[in-house]
Amino acid sequence: MTRIFSGVKPTGHLTLGNYLGAIRGWAEVDQHRSDSVFCVVDLHALTVDHDPARVRRLSRQAATLLLASGIDPDRSVLFVQSHVDEHARLSYLLECVASDGEMRRMIQYKEKAPVEQARGGSVRLSLLTYPVLMAADILAYGADEVPVGDDQTQHVELTRDLAARFNQRYGQTFTLPRATRPEVAARVMDLQDPTSKMGKSHESGAGIVYLLDEPDVVRKKIMRAVTDSGSEVVYDRGTRPGVSNLLEILAACEGGNPEGLSGVYESYGALKRDTADAVVELLRPVRERHRELVRDSAYVEGVLRTGAERAREMSRPTVDAAYRAIGLLPPAPAPADVVPVNMAR
Ligand code: TYM
Repeated sequence: MTRIFSGVKPTGHLTLGNYLGAIRGWAEVDQHRSDSVFCVVDLHALTVDHDPARVRRLSRQAATLLLASGIDPDRSVLFVQSHVDEHARLSYLLECVASDGEMRRMIQYKEKAPVEQARGGSVRLSLLTYPVLMAADILAYGADEVPVGDDQTQHVELTRDLAARFNQRYGQTFTLPRATRPEVAARVMDLQDPTSKMGKSHESGAGIVYLLDEPDVVRKKIMRAVTDSGSEVVYDRGTRPGVSNLLEILAACEGGNPEGLSGVYESYGALKRDTADAVVELLRPVRERHRELVRDSAYVEGVLRTGAERAREMSRPTVDAAYRAIGLLPPAPAPADVVPVNMAR
């Protein structure tokens, strides 16, 4: 059976981009057709200036939202990355396979490092190396597929390269994964700046729909979305980024395609109203289920505990094999584990 691994980083409240680009597909499709592992990748949230209490809060919220979105713990493994040591163990080995030039070419590093510098801080080394940790996340589980939005494709390609290099140097150890993406809404854009991605941690939040926004807030944000000059409602990402983004969001909500909606609307206002209604209805069950789950924190904790146990069992053999392959001396078994010679037959 195909093994799937994917994750979400608790650096901010989860957005409509996270949902349409990744989470909805995990819940509605992926977990029903594959052996799925989903992770709240909290170690990745430490790569930029962070508030420890906020990261803890957002990690719990992200896990709760994944459950609220329909991730079923009877079908999928759901856990928090820092609860399973194998990720950090493997990451170091992969750092010994990756090159610094390769890391510096990562688009997300090139985008985020100047932002951190402009904030007056230094750039954490982990911001440079985190794609290697992401590779470790994926390779530790022998994942065949990694369902992600567009922005993560380069990281999955790096993961493939590192896996292939490791296998070639030290012997077959890792499965080579490939990225999969939704047909529609693989890159949802900011409603106020449709030339940049809708990201969790944009300064103002006016162009970002958060999964837990109240319906009237969602409506307001969509009704105020920046549109383009000209009045025709056509799908063309290059010349009509604002309208195309709305068409894409609407199509994703309705299960259609944005080209098919080209020419259907006579005004931006009508398109915005329908998009707002569709998003409100799409998110309603998620918000409702989230509200219930927040009252049952023991349930969520139990899911994460069991998830971490299963994740450890799944990842340990591959990470141990990588330790052996790369040349590390296996620890001697504890004396109690040594079977006396005359009983070994
Ligand atoms: P993160 O937390 O930024 O995003 C989680 C998932 O949501 C997708 N996504 C989007 N899709 C469409 N439009 C958007 N505007 C949008 N914004 C985010 C992302 O592509 C992603 O699929 N490095 C990863 C987390 C990670 C990971 C992993 C993912 C760590 N280890 C291993 C897969 C496998 C990240 O920062 O995702």
